[in-house]
Amino acid sequence: MDRLDLINNLKQLLPEGAFLSGEHIQSRYDHIWRMDQPTAAIGVALPKSTDEVSSILQYCNKHQLPVVIHGGLTNLVGGTKTSNDQVVISLERMNHIEEIDTHSRTVTIQSGVILEHLHTALEEHQLSFPLNFGARGSAQLGGIISSNAGGLRVLKYGMTRQLILGLEAVLANGTVINSMKKIIKDNSGYDLKQLFIGSEGTLGVITRAVLKLEEAPSSRNAAYLAVNDYSSVVRLLKFFDARLAGKLSGFELIWNNTYRQMTSTSDAVRPPLPYDYEYYILIESLGNQPEQDRAEFEKLLVETIEKEMTQDAVMAQSPSEVEWFFRIREDVNNLTDSMNHDQHFDISLPVSLIGDYISNCYEQLYKIQGVEQVYAFGHVADGNIHFMIGKINLDDSLRLEINDIVYNGLKSIGGSISAEHGIGLDKKAYLSISRTPAEISLMQQLKNTMDPLRILNPGRIVN
Ligand code: LAC
Ligand code: ZN
Repeated sequence: MDRLDLINNLKQLLPEGAFLSGEHIQSRYDHIWRMDQPTAAIGVALPKSTDEVSSILQYCNKHQLPVVIHGGLTNLVGGTKTSNDQVVISLERMNHIEEIDTHSRTVTIQSGVILEHLHTALEEHQLSFPLNFGARGSAQLGGIISSNAGGLRVLKYGMTRQLILGLEAVLANGTVINSMKKIIKDNSGYDLKQLFIGSEGTLGVITRAVLKLEEAPSSRNAAYLAVNDYSSVVRLLKFFDARLAGKLSGFELIWNNTYRQMTSTSDAVRPPLPYDYEYYILIESLGNQPEQDRAEFEKLLVETIEKEMTQDAVMAQSPSEVEWFFRIREDVNNLTDSMNHDQHFDISLPVSLIGDYISNCYEQLYKIQGVEQVYAFGHVADGNIHFMIGKINLDDSLRLEINDIVYNGLKSIGGSISAEHGIGLDKKAYLSISRTPAEISLMQQLKNTMDPLRILNPGRIVN
């Protein structure tokens, strides 16, 4: 069938204006950081319901048309890259918060709801969906769930996977798998929803979900601490986790040179502590007794100074100072904006080994010709460190040389090439560092079973 016929048929499956093609997709893009590069695609479907997603998929499957699923376009692994022979399904119009159930403490959403919109909607009910990260203003829940996003509160609340009670997804052939239960416990057979969570849209298109909520915390405290050796970082993590008894919600580590860059671009991110130390730690605690929580947090900080567990510390004195402390860590554009080209990582490894592993990477990376900046930071309590690496060009040889240094030591220490961003197209060649041949083969079998014609997000994760 020729392209025009395909486009016309796809248009007919959806209401007027819900399938865009030609000049109408010129202003669309594949990634939020590349808004100047128009999406190439046969067309873009903008379904408003699960049934519409199902009919597009039935058609694409029948005609073996590859489909790429678009959400908020904030992934960092090439997950939403699209080419001229592919159909985009974008969930952006499925942006309805269907129900906030204050008694069951659940929210039912469509996939296109933006995380920050959900946070705002929950405020008036004194409930919270605790997942939180820098891209919350654009990331959509469908993408968040399909990539099992992590972020800055995994330490207390877990990854996205732990926060999903029910899910609805559409298989490649259009079959709707509806498992929209509000219950925490359901051992009636395989937990099928977990197949779709974290599989990056390769096994089905997530259309709706039931999310688990928490009572909103009424106190939030934050502080920066500074130390000069990595063993002190681990010691402080254990100290705060033990003494805050379940209230420690964030423990982020920033290397000295990264901290300098993160705090140098404007007054909004001015440095809370001087530049004299090797490591900077941002800690957060959430609770429900504001005065008592604050006093306890402050007392613990003083104790770490008195016992010389930390070289320096500063506590946020108001909600706006908490925002300031977090803005420094969350706004990773302050790093990438300083680079000619960037390459980024989200490796994970045992917490005790991070100090040496990252020092060694720094040393090796700076030896590579063409590497201009190396910035490390991350969710150290989760064993997850990010690298943002600035480089002079986009040559493959340079990219591979950098990858080798960051990835090659991970296998022998039981690490992972992706703690939270996923594999996408970009990391596929390295999957065997994190996974055994038998695991990869099982992934391939699942893919073949659920999407035998391989139309869904082709080429992501496995071939
Ligand atoms: C972060 C993103 C890069 O932690 O995962 O800021
Ligand atoms: Zn992260």
